[in-house]
Amino acid sequence: MKITVYGAGYVGLTTAAVLSTHHDVTVIEIDERKVELINAGETPIAEPDLAPLLRDGISRGRLKAVGSDYKNSPQDAILICVNTPSSYDGSVDLKAVDSVMQSIETNFDGYVDDYVIIGMRSTVPPGTTRTYVIDRLQKQFDSTRFGVVFQPEFLRQGHAIYDLRYPDRVIIGASDQWVYNLYKDAILPCIKRENPPVIHMSIESAEMCKYASNSFLATKISFANEMASLAEKIPHVNIDDVMDGVVADHRICDSHLRPGLGFGGSCLPKDVSGLYHLGRQRELPMNLLESVQKVNRSTTDRLLSLVGIPLSELKGKKISILGMAFKADTDDIRDSPSIPLIQRLASYGGDIHVHDPVVNFKIVPNEIAQLFSVCDSIEDCTRDSYLAFLMTDWKEYRSIGLVKITENMREKYLVDGRRVFVNTEIPKNITYRAIGSSTISGIV
Ligand SMILES: NC(=O)c1ccc[n+]([C@@H]2O[C@H](COP(=O)([O-])OP(=O)(O)OC[C@H]3O[C@@H](n4cnc5c(N)ncnc54)[C@H](O)[C@@H]3O)[C@@H](O)[C@H]2O)c1
Repeated sequence: MKITVYGAGYVGLTTAAVLSTHHDVTVIEIDERKVELINAGETPIAEPDLAPLLRDGISRGRLKAVGSDYKNSPQDAILICVNTPSSYDGSVDLKAVDSVMQSIETNFDGYVDDYVIIGMRSTVPPGTTRTYVIDRLQKQFDSTRFGVVFQPEFLRQGHAIYDLRYPDRVIIGASDQWVYNLYKDAILPCIKRENPPVIHMSIESAEMCKYASNSFLATKISFANEMASLAEKIPHVNIDDVMDGVVADHRICDSHLRPGLGFGGSCLPKDVSGLYHLGRQRELPMNLLESVQKVNRSTTDRLLSLVGIPLSELKGKKISILGMAFKADTDDIRDSPSIPLIQRLASYGGDIHVHDPVVNFKIVPNEIAQLFSVCDSIEDCTRDSYLAFLMTDWKEYRSIGLVKITENMREKYLVDGRRVFVNTEIPKNITYRAIGSSTISGIV
């Protein structure tokens, strides 16, 4: 098949690379820098296993990236994988989807010989695919020339290629049976998991399924963090033992139930917010999701409550932040818990130094970047500092160990937001606080 993918981000580029194992794929991307990198065989995002797949597709002539003014030849499928961020009020911003639709409408006759599948892969509120794609195209073109599907994407950043090849389930919302069958037959050969469960539903149900899944995962995270907050106040409670006991119940799955820094990244915060707004627009109170967000927003306060001195005393003092990515194995800093922490510490006049082994600091927005200095090594970051926060569970921090991390600090005080060192024997000269633990140093 000939397939065009709009958007070379975490979803679009990984999807394109996987599809290029069986199809001819053109990726349309508005960011010229990404287009150049991709065609040079380099990946603009940090995602394990993506680079070799990309290079293989390009060298076999089955994958290429082009700019947004590219006029494509007839295609069998067009997939929309552009960003759908939160608007200022928390609702979903559909500007990128709208601009892709304008491009498809303008180029429709060039794109479509006989019949084309239009596949929405961006996360969009229920009803969007019908309004933005089906209704708009039906007004202008013969509806026998296209069919529409919505396939929610469930990949995890840092595991995207694996998740695309071994999905737990494939959900397809389709405008009719014909397009459902065509689309399913096109994507299944690219999936390595044998007989993955394929669930067929209405387009609107599939759209909502994505929001419901992410909101449930976020709910689990906020639940675990509320338990951890309580454990911080009760001596002799070990939150890891508590959660081990909870997840030993076969009705409760282990994932997303470990205390940490809340949910971040480009998906969970915006999807919870999007679903919340959808309910509020329909005059539903959405009490549960409101609480889930409230718990998440309290993460910075929780971290700062573990700092043993009044925060006003941080003025002018060097503070180290280890990790800027919202989680390990990705370079993504969208909704990273490090950002509100940096903002708060800066408001107290702290001299903030940040290290991350993978993040490209050039992409940090100016208003945040001006609040801190970037350090190339862990040692540069912690030398002579009074306080350090471990914010991302990078193996680099885990393997160097607590003693080495704090070795050159002026005051050896580490707040561990990922509970990396909770089971380490803590030397007496180090003050160690972990999120979820009531003890000030040593093993809980
Ligand atoms: N990142 C994830 O883990 C993940 C997982 C599942 C679903 N999703 C959803 O998938 C969608 C894409 O997410 P992402 O993380 O890949 O976003 P992203 O920001 O990484 O990538 C989007 C890309 O689309 C490009 N783009 C924007 N408008 C364009 C246009 N008109 N034409 C061509 N390219 C355009 C952007 O420049 C960017 O490179 C979102 O709706 C998101 O919610 C993301």
